[in-house]
Amino acid sequence: MNADGRTRLNQTPEWTALAKHREELADTGLRELFAAAPDRGTGYTLQVGDLYVDYSKHLVTDETLRLLRDLAAATDVAGLRDAMFRGEKINTTEDRAVLHTALRAPRDAVIEVDGENVVPKVHAVLDKMADFAGRVRSGEWTGHTGKRIKNVVNVGIGGSDLGPAMAYEVLRSFTDRDLTVRFVSNVDGADLHEATRDLDAAETLFVIASKTFTTIETITNATSARNWLLGELKAGQEAVAKHFVALSTNAEKVADFGIDTANMFEFWDWVGGRYSFDSAIGLSLMIAIGADRFREMLDGFRLVDEHFRTAPAESNVPLLLGLLGIWYGNFHDAQSHAVLPYSHYLSKFTAYLQQLDMESNGKSVDRDGQEVDWQTGPVVWGTPGTNGQHAYYQLIHQGTKLIPADFIGFAEPVAELSEGLKAQHDLLMANFFAQTQALAFGKTPDEVRAEGVPEELVAHKTFKGNHPTTTILARELTPSVLGQLIALYEHKVFVQGAVWNIDSFDQWGVELGKVLAKRVEPALTEGAEVPGLDPSSKALVAKYRELRGR
Ligand code: F6P
Repeated sequence: MNADGRTRLNQTPEWTALAKHREELADTGLRELFAAAPDRGTGYTLQVGDLYVDYSKHLVTDETLRLLRDLAAATDVAGLRDAMFRGEKINTTEDRAVLHTALRAPRDAVIEVDGENVVPKVHAVLDKMADFAGRVRSGEWTGHTGKRIKNVVNVGIGGSDLGPAMAYEVLRSFTDRDLTVRFVSNVDGADLHEATRDLDAAETLFVIASKTFTTIETITNATSARNWLLGELKAGQEAVAKHFVALSTNAEKVADFGIDTANMFEFWDWVGGRYSFDSAIGLSLMIAIGADRFREMLDGFRLVDEHFRTAPAESNVPLLLGLLGIWYGNFHDAQSHAVLPYSHYLSKFTAYLQQLDMESNGKSVDRDGQEVDWQTGPVVWGTPGTNGQHAYYQLIHQGTKLIPADFIGFAEPVAELSEGLKAQHDLLMANFFAQTQALAFGKTPDEVRAEGVPEELVAHKTFKGNHPTTTILARELTPSVLGQLIALYEHKVFVQGAVWNIDSFDQWGVELGKVLAKRVEPALTEGAEVPGLDPSSKALVAKYRELRGR
């Protein structure tokens, strides 16, 4: 029993029915499913905004989908969703509302946290960002020496880096190409070094992005960036105001660091780090693409928010994608989920989703603090096709693991490509369609034999198929489409966390490592005794000191 008297998830009739159904479907493959319903290729599709979502190549029937929706109903996914949109404190372990959806709400919306409508605050910050971004882009905002800003360096980590860094790549063709925009996250000094070594400090703006403004990597890098800037400019503290802005919830720490809070862009504790990219954390992106494009992106987010909030279960895309993940993770023992974009511009998209999904749903106790008896979040991984095809697809096709995958592609190449390069797009997309076909339907031993393959090689050249994929196709990659894609995955992750009854919005699992790192550092620098250091780590620290000649 759960603390509230509800039956444990894996003992509910809905769960048991799915387990039984899984056994019944054990011998049914995609060839059979398509033979039984030839219109599946058009029937098992949904449209949300610009995204055409094909789920026909999944190991599911109408009955599977019905049973999955029953599970969602039994676990009251819709109830938790509505509570989230209303601003209730569904992040119970941190006693916080979860309101990234308010970041893209229209100006006239009313969303209350503790009795206060937060929407005016959201728009006040967006307006302030738009004003600032406009002044940097136009050259009105100059550096300490009066030079125009040509370089923007975002310093942040995790949710304060991955979102803007990813989106900058995705929307590169929409960016002001005269601006150099870089992202520094790693506390390895090499990151900041490489980001600044060829820049003119007088033309460089540092955007320090940290929700808490206490994250050691970011504060260390920001301090080094300030030292670099003041050293290069041979200037005093007074130069900081024109070269440093902060994105944070913590005005006090921003001021302590020496950044004028007039140059701070605020957000709030009801925005989770990994859900913060469309808050002030998006400032570097806004400088790169301009406020209008940024707003188009927010509109894309909102479109999918509204769909998730209002679409019936049968046609609710985030719900469907979340439930399909549960089908494989909980009933087929799949351990991972691949996201394989067929767009070079989406090269960092999967890395972004890793934090979104794995930090949200990498939990092993439920909301009541009880150990879960069911699998939770998958390992999310992947890189753009077609590169992956020549690297790890072999394992997906012929390995021993079931790896459900999302294929994301676009009908149109990016507008700014030359005609010659645009012509390559059909080849890219031919690979996109070929891969999901090969994964789904494979090649039988008889088909291999029919090609004249010698008998001893038939097993090697056989593809079993039945590797499930979702295809997400849009006409073109625009700011709005990016917003739609991110919101789609945000809500998919939400659905899964709701079914698993875990808190998808805390991240206590990152704390222990942080505390230990603080404790170990003096051992590295001064050889200090670290109380409680285990023998293996002690020996490693000693080896490190020896190698550093200490
Ligand atoms: O890794 C933990 C975490 O808190 C993430 O959730 C967050 O995105 C990241 O650190 C950065 O935190 P901050 O924005 O407070 O510097």
